[in-house]
Amino acid sequence: MTATLAAAVEVVPSPDLELAEKTSALTVQETIPETGTETTTGQIPPHRSHDPQYNMKRTDPFMFGSRYLDEGDDVFEFNAWDHVETDDAYKEYSEQQFAMQRASPVSDFDKNRFNSDPARFWNLFYKNNTANFFKNRKWLQQEFPVLHTVTAEDAGPKIVLEVGAGAGNTAFPILAHNKNPKLRLHACDFSKKAVEVMRSHAEYNTELMQADVWDVASEELPPGVEENTVDVVLMIFIFSALSPLQWERAVRNIHRVLKPGGEVCFRDYGRGDLAQVRFKKGRYLEENFYIRGDGTRVYFFEKEELARIWSGVFGEETSDSEDKDGTSEATPDPDSQEPSAIKAESPLFDIEELGVDRRMLVNRAKKLKMYRCWMQGRFRKK
Ligand SMILES: C[S@@+](CC[C@H](N)C(=O)[O-])C[C@H]1O[C@@H](n2cnc3c(N)ncnc32)[C@H](O)[C@@H]1O
Repeated sequence: MTATLAAAVEVVPSPDLELAEKTSALTVQETIPETGTETTTGQIPPHRSHDPQYNMKRTDPFMFGSRYLDEGDDVFEFNAWDHVETDDAYKEYSEQQFAMQRASPVSDFDKNRFNSDPARFWNLFYKNNTANFFKNRKWLQQEFPVLHTVTAEDAGPKIVLEVGAGAGNTAFPILAHNKNPKLRLHACDFSKKAVEVMRSHAEYNTELMQADVWDVASEELPPGVEENTVDVVLMIFIFSALSPLQWERAVRNIHRVLKPGGEVCFRDYGRGDLAQVRFKKGRYLEENFYIRGDGTRVYFFEKEELARIWSGVFGEETSDSEDKDGTSEATPDPDSQEPSAIKAESPLFDIEELGVDRRMLVNRAKKLKMYRCWMQGRFRKK
């Protein structure tokens, strides 16, 4: 199994939000029972897409979250299933991969090279990837209804700050849907090249939008943004680009700019995602933190870890979660949809929602399964 997998996943470009569509395979075929009696249309339950255009070739983003794999289903009937737990073979394979990765970490010299100037590698990334290669993100408004609210015609003055906005693949779809003449969208990124790309975009409209260079882990606030003024902060696959040492500064900066009651909309990589499992030797920086082939860094989060960070608990889990005699409390169920029970002394954010979004993607032609895992949350400033 391993040789085929290693070869197959290497083709995945990075950074890859829609990696799955471009990935040829994660080969676990020998572990998949060859079920496969064709399901006729008449037997397909109504919650699945019936349109062969979508079923046969691709998955419409609007179908996210709605396709459940039930016992007796043919795994290869569709190209993706939602909320699917990884199977034992994949779990075992993942653990073998993690052990291999840990045994061959990045050298200290390279760690220093990648950690000392991460913006340099993102600049290179945006130099080499100027095309708008991310897909239309219709799911944004669906997943984060507050984006509907602030872009409504009569919403009044609203400030949205996007952190790590990259080439504007989130910002421009928001502008395209916007009906609020009083919206102010600040799209910031620490990569100068990314900001250049946004500013030269055909839809860049300075009446509504301002793209600026800003490092979320710096001591400064974003240009033109004052404390306690922002309604919504968007963080889409940016937090994973930070080193764990930068988390606290970043969260405190976001807390500073938001109004009390303001909301963070968050989506990022989850532990065990295919993108993590596929890393080879020489990519491991520290636990769950890797360097990609292009020099950009990526972290894979656990749900409880995110709940702690956004509550304002930084560093290692503290005595809060340990009894006096040193025995730990029961480990929280990582798949529980309940917000974390872990509380900081003076919490920065309420964890309004934090979920693990799992998808199994299927290459039906090759009878292959791939597991994706993302974290999605909404955090409200206290
Ligand atoms: C995976 S990309 C995501 C881009 C964009 N949010 C999207 O979803 O298309 C990560 C982005 O975070 C930016 N980034 C990384 N570290 C940053 C930091 N410390 N401050 C601001 N932006 C950062 C990178 O330049 C890059 O544009």
